[in-house]
Amino acid sequence: MTRMSDHDIERTSLRSRMVGGLGRADIGTEPRLAGWVHRRRDLGGLLFVDLRDRSGLLQVSFGPDWTEPESLAAAHELGPEDVIAVTGRVERRPEANPELSTGEVELRAVRMERLSAARVPAIPVYRAPEEELPSEELRLRHRVLDLRRAELQRNLSLRHKLILVARRYMDEQGFVEVETPILTKPTPEGARDYLVPSRVHEGEFYALPQSPQIYKQILMVAGFDRYFQIARCFRDEDLRADRQPEFTQIDVEASFVEPDDILGWMEGLMAALAEVAAVDAPLPFPRMTWAEAMDRYGSDRPDLRYGLPIEDWTGTTADVDFRILRSAVEGGGRVRGIRVPGGARLSRKEIEAVESEAKGAGVPGLLWAKRTVEGTSGTISKFLTDKHFDDMNAAVGDLLLLAAGPDRVTSPGLAATRAAAARAMDLPLEREHAWLWVTHFPLFEGADGALAPGHHPFVMPHPDDLRLLDSDPSAARSLAYDLVYNGTEFGSGSIRIHDGALQRKVLRTLGLSEEEIDRKFGFLLEALAAGAPPHGGIALGMDRIVQRFVGAGSLRDVVAFPKTTAARALFEGAPGPVTDAELSELGLRVVGRGGAS
Ligand code: AMO
Repeated sequence: MTRMSDHDIERTSLRSRMVGGLGRADIGTEPRLAGWVHRRRDLGGLLFVDLRDRSGLLQVSFGPDWTEPESLAAAHELGPEDVIAVTGRVERRPEANPELSTGEVELRAVRMERLSAARVPAIPVYRAPEEELPSEELRLRHRVLDLRRAELQRNLSLRHKLILVARRYMDEQGFVEVETPILTKPTPEGARDYLVPSRVHEGEFYALPQSPQIYKQILMVAGFDRYFQIARCFRDEDLRADRQPEFTQIDVEASFVEPDDILGWMEGLMAALAEVAAVDAPLPFPRMTWAEAMDRYGSDRPDLRYGLPIEDWTGTTADVDFRILRSAVEGGGRVRGIRVPGGARLSRKEIEAVESEAKGAGVPGLLWAKRTVEGTSGTISKFLTDKHFDDMNAAVGDLLLLAAGPDRVTSPGLAATRAAAARAMDLPLEREHAWLWVTHFPLFEGADGALAPGHHPFVMPHPDDLRLLDSDPSAARSLAYDLVYNGTEFGSGSIRIHDGALQRKVLRTLGLSEEEIDRKFGFLLEALAAGAPPHGGIALGMDRIVQRFVGAGSLRDVVAFPKTTAARALFEGAPGPVTDAELSELGLRVVGRGGAS
């Protein structure tokens, strides 16, 4: 838990200090303490209470020789999570408890008052070391108790510190925090909008912002030059462990910039945040183009804590007479794979587990071959000669994993293979903290005729690829970049289009009619026509940064009141139905109750 050091800050009308900092130096003092009954041990005559406040735990002892009789009687009635105030004397503990920061001392209680009685907690706050956490559903349902856990208190305190440092850093770099609306017009970030019906304008809706993207661009046109915001965003999308329907971004935009400016500021910001969390962030972060990331790692957010790059063995295996390889190459694909040094020690079962992850990511089949002192084995081994193994740099003891086909199929499969092989091998990490910029993302996704934005529709095409907008838009690169940490996308940004005509052209390429362009983006185009500076920016996912820095398994462990993967708030009970009267005031009627869970 947080250890507050300045006792004057801790003092309130009902207590003189918190417990966390109490130690040998305080022996003989007589503080007034207040907090929760974490744990109580009743030894008949003597009674021990672990008193908990935000700063930590302290043992309080009650006994007939030093506690007033009424207080002693009341102490015997205490239950877990009752709130008490207690005065007494700090004494040395006969036997120190090294587990507690306050373990050398205890408070000998003279007087105790119960300020509030707690009903029997639905989930325990105190747990013996070997006791497992209750299920997450139960913990979310009883969030008020779960939030008392030291881990969650620590996570949220660190989150607070990180936000504080981010604000200070951005301010020092000359950025101004501007709040943008929550009731707004749809902003396309690829998810569904949460809609809010307007009562005064029946049949019309606000959207909650998926991000402040358009507003921050308008602020650049308005001359704010450097904007940031700790911004809440809302997205109605399929949830995963690294997604919440509402989340927080450190949102940034600046004028008269090129990618290097944004990357430089963000490196400084990440170094400042990492320092608070005792995470290594050596600057500058390495950079890799999107094309290289996909080619070498099969992913646009490769985890570079370990090696196992993907190799192109199309040439090396050109004379291998194996139908799967030949037909893949004839179809325009490649033979690619991963050499796992020492991987021959994996059992068939372990290799099949790797294969099933590759299949889960979309490759129809993963081929493999082991090279051992006894010879070779595996699904493709009898087609490979020693020379093939040599050409693929496979030494005795190594394992080769191969996939053949078009990159768009094999890349995700090989990315999954790489991760699964690293896990199966229990590879020692080459580094604990792997930072990476991925640059030059494609401007569009999908095939011609059904193009979607690679990121969002406001991203500036790469200047060398502008001509491709007419001839081959799906081949065009952009000035977009992502920040990746240990395989997690921390942030995404780009230089934006500041020319109205080019913005229209990109929107048309995405299949929007002139009428749709004006209806959806007229206000942006109007702003761009008012004299727009070249500008660009980025948004970092605050929740993900905290999650990875504290090593939490889920975003829910770094958000005070999170939603489940079914987008429900279990403690407060949202979403919930509303009355017909409320609906009719909004001019709405519920026609179906499908999807309720
Ligand atoms: P993007 O949509 O990539 O970009 O979001 C930026 C970062 O926000 C985090 N993030 C999320 N975190 C938790 N739950 C979610 N559902 C979620 N969705 C996104 C990720 C991500 O990298 N306007 C652009 C930024 C820009 O171009 O400046 C945007 O929002 O860490």
